[in-house]
Amino acid sequence: MSVDVEVARTRKTEQKFVFSDHEDGANNTENNGLCAYFLTAISVVLIVVTLPFSLMFCIKVVQEYERAVIFRLGRLLKGGARGPGIFFIIPCIDSYCKIDLRTVSFDVPPQEILSKDSVTVAVDAVVYYRISNATVAVTNVEDYGRSTRLLAATTLRNVLGTKNLSELLSERESISHMIQSSLDEATDPWGVKVERVEVKDVRLPVQLQRAMAAEAEAAREARAKVIAAEGEQKASRALKEAADVITDSPAALQLRYLQTLSSIAAEKNSTIVFPIPMELFKGHITM
Ligand SMILES: *[C@@H]1O[C@H](CO)[C@@H](O)[C@H](O)[C@H]1NC(C)=O
Ligand SMILES: *[C@@H]1O[C@H](CO)[C@@H](O)[C@H](O)[C@H]1NC(C)=O
Ligand SMILES: *[C@@H]1O[C@H](CO)[C@@H](O)[C@H](O)[C@H]1NC(C)=O
Repeated sequence: MSVDVEVARTRKTEQKFVFSDHEDGANNTENNGLCAYFLTAISVVLIVVTLPFSLMFCIKVVQEYERAVIFRLGRLLKGGARGPGIFFIIPCIDSYCKIDLRTVSFDVPPQEILSKDSVTVAVDAVVYYRISNATVAVTNVEDYGRSTRLLAATTLRNVLGTKNLSELLSERESISHMIQSSLDEATDPWGVKVERVEVKDVRLPVQLQRAMAAEAEAAREARAKVIAAEGEQKASRALKEAADVITDSPAALQLRYLQTLSSIAAEKNSTIVFPIPMELFKGHITM
């Protein structure tokens, strides 16, 4: 990622240099402008002569969400992009292109990425961007949409390559944010503002899915066993206490025995029960 940022930085300085070149060019217009003035004068005269009809070619309209970047004899017209609404051009010597300022979204196709701990995952994302400076988007990059797409795919790979699997799965929010800021910095010289990046899906290989499922199952089973053992421990302690109480008073055992008899009698009334005198066991119990 640091490499990427550095590339973006060098790009930015390059662009600045290029742009200052443009500015120099604008100053040159006065020097070699004789021909330009001549052509402009001819065009204006032509417009005036054919007045009602020439307006058809002079007046242009762009929508609320569009801007027009105008070039006069190949030079960028001063004053920035025109619009929204009506603007004028001089036919023959002006050319212009419309730029849409609305937010555009695109899918980054699934990228096979090797995570930091050597697991292959397929990740796809969706990116939202808009043009923040129409002039720069026309002059500094040939096709801002395609360039942004390509850069988004490589940035996704670069950022996710530095994460291990558990981070990939648990820190989507911060990863999305990291990709967004990195991408935004890189597309800054193109007049493109990356508004949002969302990591859509992190797909694991089937074998790994199975292994993780087995691991989770084993962990759950182990926990269940511990809980059962703890229950048994508590139950045995309670039983021991009960036995202690019963040994303390011999009549308690007799009562418990009668209670058992009555419950058997209620449940299975066809069964015949012979009560055995508890005194027979007395010797064993008190032993
Ligand atoms: C677009 O960028 C150019 C060059 O950096 C700058 O002169 C111009 O003011 C910017 N326009 C807007 C609307 O920011
Ligand atoms: C993933 O990386 C983080 C920090 O980079 C570390 O704390 C964590 O233990 C790693 N997890 C695995 C499973 O290696
Ligand atoms: C035994 O219990 C059943 C219901 O559980 C009852 O219908 C039946 O009459 C009982 N028999 C006797 C002998 O009490």
